[in-house]
Amino acid sequence: MYILAPSLLGADFNILGQQIKETEEAGAEYLHIDVMDGIFVPSISFGMPLIRSIRETSRQFFDVHLMIVNPERYIREFAECGADGITFHLEAVGQPQKVIEEIHAAGLKAGISIKPGTPVEAVYPYLTDVELVLVMSVEPGFGGQPFMPEAYERISRLRSYIDQNRLPVKIEVDGGVGKKNVREVIGAGADICVAGSAVFKKRSISENIFHFMQAFKEKEQKEDDK
Ligand code: DX5
Ligand code: ZN
Repeated sequence: MYILAPSLLGADFNILGQQIKETEEAGAEYLHIDVMDGIFVPSISFGMPLIRSIRETSRQFFDVHLMIVNPERYIREFAECGADGITFHLEAVGQPQKVIEEIHAAGLKAGISIKPGTPVEAVYPYLTDVELVLVMSVEPGFGGQPFMPEAYERISRLRSYIDQNRLPVKIEVDGGVGKKNVREVIGAGADICVAGSAVFKKRSISENIFHFMQAFKEKEQKEDDK
């Protein structure tokens, strides 16, 4: 089962609630929520008040991507305002194991993320404990950047390791994913595709999401035929 996680960063905040509903109705099971602090990444996005407020309009899985230093300071608060899963950056913490434990203690799914320059092997020691690995296919910080093709090899290396060790960990890919490359991204081994611009820009949200759903269905069909 492949999942689409529309990234809120690409939405029109004038009509945010309406756009979130559209993504849910079109079949996006996750909502990807990028929190930036201006320190771990150059930009600042949004935080708890926004999440608390949109929690009332959506039943999607709130997939919170923390691009912040000291993420452990805010886990409880994100849990209270409606997060379902929290993903932090390996590069942002000293003791990843402790952060994972705290996320679980708050009753949430834990994810660990790596920037394009961090070797994928760096997450291997944590794969028995997390539910998700988020592979960045752009430098984190901004929406609308082009997909870095080096990510394919990183995704497939991680996929092989996870499969060989029969680990129940999902691979999520974030940055520059759209209808032109979604087939290659899931072909390389991604389970969850994050997409901001490709969901919220150009055509209508439902049309954009339809292309992702088609690609997912085709791939699932091929797997069933095997
Ligand atoms: C970037 C964020 C992404 C971003 C993706 O740092 O983590 O989630 O919103 O946007 P697109 O799909 O436009 O690259
Ligand atoms: Zn993100």
